[in-house]
Amino acid sequence: MARQQWASRTVFILAAVGSAVGLGNVWRFPYLAGKYGGGAFLVPYLIALVAVGIPLLMLEFAVGQKMQQGAIGSYKKLNPSFGSLGIFAIISAFIIVSYYAVVMAWCLLYFLASFGVKWSDDAKGYFYDNVLQITEGIDKLGGINFPIVFSLLLVWISVYFCVWKGTKSVGKVVLYSVPLPVILMALLLIRGVTLPGFLDGWVFYLNPQWSALIDPEVWTAAFTQIFFTLSLAFGTMIAYGSYKNSEDDIAKDTWITALLNSAISLFAGFVVFAVLGYMATQTSTPVEELAASGPGLAFVVFPEALSLMPFAGLFSLLFFLMLLSLGIDSAFSIVEALNAAILDVWQHWKIAQLSLWICVATFVAGIIYTTRAGLYFLDIADHFITNYNGILVAIFQSILVGWVYGAEKLRRYINEVSDWKLGKWWNILIKYFIPVVLATLLATQLSKDLRIPYEGYPGWALGIGWSLVVVPLTVFLLLLFRDWNKIRSRSPQSS
Ligand code: PHE
Repeated sequence: MARQQWASRTVFILAAVGSAVGLGNVWRFPYLAGKYGGGAFLVPYLIALVAVGIPLLMLEFAVGQKMQQGAIGSYKKLNPSFGSLGIFAIISAFIIVSYYAVVMAWCLLYFLASFGVKWSDDAKGYFYDNVLQITEGIDKLGGINFPIVFSLLLVWISVYFCVWKGTKSVGKVVLYSVPLPVILMALLLIRGVTLPGFLDGWVFYLNPQWSALIDPEVWTAAFTQIFFTLSLAFGTMIAYGSYKNSEDDIAKDTWITALLNSAISLFAGFVVFAVLGYMATQTSTPVEELAASGPGLAFVVFPEALSLMPFAGLFSLLFFLMLLSLGIDSAFSIVEALNAAILDVWQHWKIAQLSLWICVATFVAGIIYTTRAGLYFLDIADHFITNYNGILVAIFQSILVGWVYGAEKLRRYINEVSDWKLGKWWNILIKYFIPVVLATLLATQLSKDLRIPYEGYPGWALGIGWSLVVVPLTVFLLLLFRDWNKIRSRSPQSS
């Protein structure tokens, strides 16, 4: 059976942009920019984009496109011992999407609650006590919260119908799911700039604080953000690259994907801070006290700001529809990473069948986050997966391509098919710069986590977090050594 392919280059770019542009662009980038030096944050951000993000994205597109396989098969073709790196990547992808979908389930509940702006009296209480019904600590599970489970089920049914026919269905969905949130963002921006106080928000967002640049934390934040926002190291971009034709251009598509993603992040910042500026004026609170990231922004601060404006219900509806449409293509890109990786190894599976099993398994795995202590578990899983698994996979991936397979070999392939030629600098980035930068990030985070228990969670809970890192890492390393030895012990006889 012929391997599936994208219908056109535009569809591929839309799918890649859809994966990259997600909740991270709205609830993380603006916050980081505001907190870490305003306009000055763009300096480390752009350096991280050009020195790490784009070269790695190019690597992943190229690996997928050249090998025409998902993560496991591609790594294996780069070097027969490295197939298990793909297993590490997709286990991590599985964990990410299991909680990413839960956040979308909250968005869906808020979308429905928008009709009556149900949080208008007390946005914080509404989120924590009504929607999550959160327990006082992670050791109290509090049972399953059924509205969230139903909502999660709906999210998974939608995701399933996006991926069930592989690139055919994904290709159709991204025609809508990528432009839609941008249009909604534009509408919210128009609303924002017609409200008093929006400029105060923008001043806070962009006013450069150059002194921030000497703070190492700012640099770590920039590199981590670039990494997550470009969907790197979870097999996603390899899978998407593998559905291209092996003669397609790589360099240009990479730049287009990465620049569109960052442009949408910047744009989202204008929306978020216009609305926060308005809220600051209405409540006489400084903007910096309102700036929040993650669930705090999307489900508490922003809804409260929306409830203060005329036509609150309508704009809340638009906002949560925007989050849903932002999230869905990121979520199904992760399912595609699993799909591609597994289909290439076990070819007897049908796409529709395999997708169904993946969606069911991820739904079931996500049930832990729908308990009344779910937010705590989600916070822990997110912390460990994004700070460790992604970075670890990327380090090994750079070593695999840079040293084992040969950066020069892959560079030559990229140059053969691309109009814009890559210089030798790319090899240097992949072989030296990126592994060193990522290892530094990893070491910084590790020393912090070993000194201070993350968010003060109890040891057993953090133990679960660590096991999400250590178990797949160990599986990968054991299989790597096994295969490495097997191949080495065979080679003297064959020569
Ligand atoms: N890039 C997505 C976001 O910013 C998240 C994501 C991570 C998607 C990893 C796929 C893989 O929200």
